[in-house]
Parts: sequence; C-alpha cells; structure tokens
Amino acid sequence: MQELKRTSTFPENFQWGVATSAFQLEGSPNADWSTWDMVLSDVPEITNHYIVFREDLKLLKELGVTSYRFSIEWSRIQPDPDTWDEEAIAHYQEIIDILRSYNIEPMVTLHHFTHPRWFQERCPWHRTASVEAFLRYAEKMASTLRNVRYWITFNEPYVILIGGYLDGCTPPGLRDVPSSLIALKNIFTSHGKAYDIIHRYVPDAQVGIAHNMSVFAPWKKWNPLDRLLKKSANYFYNHSIINAFQTGVFIVKFPFSRAVEIEVPIKDKLDFFGVNYYTRIHLRFNPFKKMGVELRHLDIDGHGLTNIGWEVHPRGLAKVLRYASRLNLPLIITENGIATHDSEMKVKYMKQHVDVVERCLKDGLDVRGYFYWTLIDNYEWLQGLDARFGLYRVDFKTLKRSPTSAAPYYAYLIQSRSKT
Ligand code: GAL
Repeated sequence: MQELKRTSTFPENFQWGVATSAFQLEGSPNADWSTWDMVLSDVPEITNHYIVFREDLKLLKELGVTSYRFSIEWSRIQPDPDTWDEEAIAHYQEIIDILRSYNIEPMVTLHHFTHPRWFQERCPWHRTASVEAFLRYAEKMASTLRNVRYWITFNEPYVILIGGYLDGCTPPGLRDVPSSLIALKNIFTSHGKAYDIIHRYVPDAQVGIAHNMSVFAPWKKWNPLDRLLKKSANYFYNHSIINAFQTGVFIVKFPFSRAVEIEVPIKDKLDFFGVNYYTRIHLRFNPFKKMGVELRHLDIDGHGLTNIGWEVHPRGLAKVLRYASRLNLPLIITENGIATHDSEMKVKYMKQHVDVVERCLKDGLDVRGYFYWTLIDNYEWLQGLDARFGLYRVDFKTLKRSPTSAAPYYAYLIQSRSKT
C-alpha cells in the first residue's frame, strides 16, 4: 500500500465518517419497500444489523472515524399513525449513546427513501397531508432524541421524485409529471418546516439535506440533442436545488416544455449542504425510452466501471463541489463509495476521491466532511445484495463481517490526514 505523508490540508474538525441507512441494514416489516420489492428475494434484514448493531458499531471504532451518518427507520418509529414505538426510539437512542461513548459525532437522517406503509396508503407525497405527517414524525424525533447535533431531513429528494414519480421504479410507482411537481413542493415544504422545528428543540443543531449530484455528458458530443439533454439534466439535477435554497423558488424545465415555477419555503433553511457523489452519466436522446432519455456509463478515462456498471470519475467530485459552493455554506460529502468485489479497486476509488477533496480544500472550497458509503455490504435497493459497497464484506450465509483492504486503508487515511 502506498505511504501517505501527514498533511494538514484537512481542517482540524474535518468529519471523517461512514454513512449508512436504516432500511438497507435492518429492513422493516412496516415499510413501503418491504412489499414493493417483491421481485427480489433479497431482504435487507439479512444483514441482521438490527440485532447485532452493537458489534457493527465497534467497527467504526476500529476505523477511527470521527462521525457516523445513519438513518432512523420511520416505519419502526411510527408503525401506524397513532402509535409511537418507544422501544424503537430507545434503539436509535442507544446507537447515539454508543457513538457518543466512542467520541463519534452522530449525524441523523430522518428520511432515507422508505416510508411507513400507512403513509403511502393515506397521504403519499403528492397529497397535502404528507407534510403534516412527516412533520409529526420530525418533531417527535427532534424532541425525543438526545445528543444529536447534525440532522439531515431528506436523503436525495430528487431520487425519491424520479424513482417514485417519473420513472415509477420505486414507491409509490407513479409516472406522472403533475404529481411529481406536487410531491416536490410537499417534500421541500417539509424540509423547510422541519428545519425550524429541529432548531426549536436543538438550538445548536446543524440541519442539512443530502443531495445526489452527478456529472452529465452527451453520449455523442456532435449530437445537438444529446448536448441539449446534458444541459437540461445538469441544470435540473445539480443546479435547480441550489437556486431554490437561495431564492425559495424551484424552476423546473424539461426539454421542449415550458418552465414551471414552484414556490417553497426553503430560502436559507440550510446550515450545510450534503453532497452524495458517485459517478458520471452519459445521456442520449431516445424517443423510445422512458422520458425520452437513455443513460449510459462509459469508461472514458480508464478508471473502470463498478460492478453495478457505474463509471468511476473522481474529477467529477470537484466539479459538483464547485457547483454546490455557490450556496456559500459548509459542504459535507455525505456519501461517496463504490460497489465492487475487488478490494484494491475500492482502495483506489477512495484514495482518488479523497485526493480530489484535498485539492478542493487547497482551492479554498469549504468542505467540512467526507462520509464513505458504506460500512458493511447491505441491501442496495433495486440491485439487491450483490452491489458490495461495504468497507466490511458480509457473507450473507454466515453473516460474518470481514474487512476489505479498504477498511484498514480508510483507517490509515484518516490518521495520516488528520491534524495531530
Ligand atoms: C445513494 C443512496 C444510498 C445508496 C447509494 C449507493 O444514492 O442514498 O442509499 O444506495 O446511493 O447506490
């Protein structure tokens, strides 16, 4: 393994973390995804994390991380609208307490893709009542959980909207632009109001959102339609949310259609911006594909494709961080990682991306943290169990966790790049 010299580019309180989400580790019988994903025989409960979480949290100590991002499974906390499950709340409080005892800063995500089943049945995001339902849950968490300073309201709201309302591959499985715009308004209204609620209960809270950012490129550079798609995708996916946090207005514009303006109460309702970055996507206009767009991953720079076919494109991280820096807020890389069975590729991916972060810091970007996705192999949504993002490999038959080479490497990276 290549030696790294100790460097002081990373600021003193830089958060070196690992990110996870509850459903992907624990599953939940009451979550919408439990019945949604019937096509796959894989079940997230298979990691057994809900039972052996104390052992898994010890791995964080082994890594030497200073922060841990995890999510609360809403459907465990509120299995039906009139029930708060106190045992489930105590479970998440115990995670927080263990982290504190290890001197690890907890970062809690309230919403990471899944919902209680009753929410989808009664008041999904395209119904106005969704806002109140989410805020009751957010308030319960903010008023009950102790010793949490970092909060993320929503993980990847655009992914929720694209999967659930445009592509239809995730709950609630719609393909309907008008509903997607109502859902967008309700999700971001919930963010804005949850921001205030959390601050009311936790005066020193840092409240953010984790947004998935990607680099886009035209499939064929010479094709004006591919270039137009790239421009539209880049505007919508990477920039429209930044503008909305600055102005309180989303401007949604799809190619060949009129722009739609949606007002949302989120202006300045953000203490940090979380960037989830993985890959670059090439786009081609294809009228026979859903939404007229065909996506492809091309290994143009020779960094390789991951085992779910995503292009490894480290430079792209600098690009999206620069986009996000327009917000003039602290930036935290709330997810970055690779699905591969090849440990050395995982090490390389991590090194390349952390090097990019270091260069961005030297260039003056205000990056406050890096969270590797993810701790142990888990349930990767539509891709099931074979994606292998974990620093620790899980044998899904014996449930044994074993470190990939990326685990000691991350520990080394953290040590060598932290200020003494
Ligand atoms: C993110 C998502 C995570 C995880 C990761 C790897 O978009 O927030 O839940 O699945 O991608 O694909």
